[in-house]
Amino acid sequence: MLVLGLESSCDETGVALYDTEYGLLAHHLHTQMAMHAEYGGVVPELASRDHIRRVLPLTEACLQEAGKTRADIDAIAFTEGPGLAGALLTAAAVANGLGVALGKPVIGVHHLEGHLLSPLLASPRPDFPFVALLVSGGHTQLMAVHGVGHYELLGETLDDAAGEAFDKTAKLLGLGYPGGPALSKLAEQGDASRFTLPRPMQHSGDLDFSFAGLKTAVLTLVKKQAELDTQTRADICAAFQAAIVDVISSKCLGAMKQTGLKQLVVAGGVGANRQLRDGLNLMAARRKFKVFYPPLDLCTDNGAMIAFAGAQRLMHAQTAGPFAVRPRWDLA
Ligand code: KG4
Ligand code: ZN
Repeated sequence: MLVLGLESSCDETGVALYDTEYGLLAHHLHTQMAMHAEYGGVVPELASRDHIRRVLPLTEACLQEAGKTRADIDAIAFTEGPGLAGALLTAAAVANGLGVALGKPVIGVHHLEGHLLSPLLASPRPDFPFVALLVSGGHTQLMAVHGVGHYELLGETLDDAAGEAFDKTAKLLGLGYPGGPALSKLAEQGDASRFTLPRPMQHSGDLDFSFAGLKTAVLTLVKKQAELDTQTRADICAAFQAAIVDVISSKCLGAMKQTGLKQLVVAGGVGANRQLRDGLNLMAARRKFKVFYPPLDLCTDNGAMIAFAGAQRLMHAQTAGPFAVRPRWDLA
């Protein structure tokens, strides 16, 4: 079965072709980062308009790369939510239009399900059940994943998402948008021990997170500095990153202990963070569990994870619902 996947929930237009027998045949992505950078964040109206411009050329590029035509497509998966309503409508409209034109099934996918199944596109791949850490710009959750469609929420952020904390802190330090990659790059030149930042809820005894206080602590620290030279900013970045990695690692360990599972899957944009990967890998080696990551280019939003999740759903005999988008939608 050849599944076309379309993602347009935020600021990335992603298109992919996934074959249930041969794997991922093609995936193409256009990021709107540069367009939104001058506004310091995503402008929903600009995002929607750009998705409309990109989605069909990206689809053609995928078909060409895979040596396929539209007639070869067996099903179309699109991100139904959560996300920006106008942005979501692009993939929804194209998917449903193509579905009608080709007479093929169309399936709406939960964006977070796409992220949390994405490590299954890597090799070696985890087996069910596993614990999934979802750390993106909009979400921070720990889930027990028992199988496709069987997700148990273990804990989540009570305020900001991890990626949001990276982005807001980076903005405070004048690092531009999106802040996560810029902050972690500058942190490489920093000394994490020069400043001590709090580890919110690290020992709260549950699996919930809170990052808003950490961002405020950085703001207080920044205000105290007589001069915010590059080295000071790098040291603050390193201290911030160390704090966030400590908290996330502790919560992951808590989730492994609570569930007794031996595999941890890391998904979402913040999963690309090198320091987080090093911290989790070290802990996994010590505590005798395995960590799985999606390929680096599939950590952030993309069409491949949507094509893949859609294919899994269709193989589990799930069919498409009515044409809809769900800007707000809980996975579990
Ligand atoms: O999963 P994603 O592409 O989009 C959402 O669904 O939110 O995640 C984007 C988030 C942004 O907040 C971005 O700053 C963060 O992931 N991010 C990173 C890194 N790369 C992306 N955060 C920390 N370190 C990185 N290397
Ligand atoms: Zn995402």
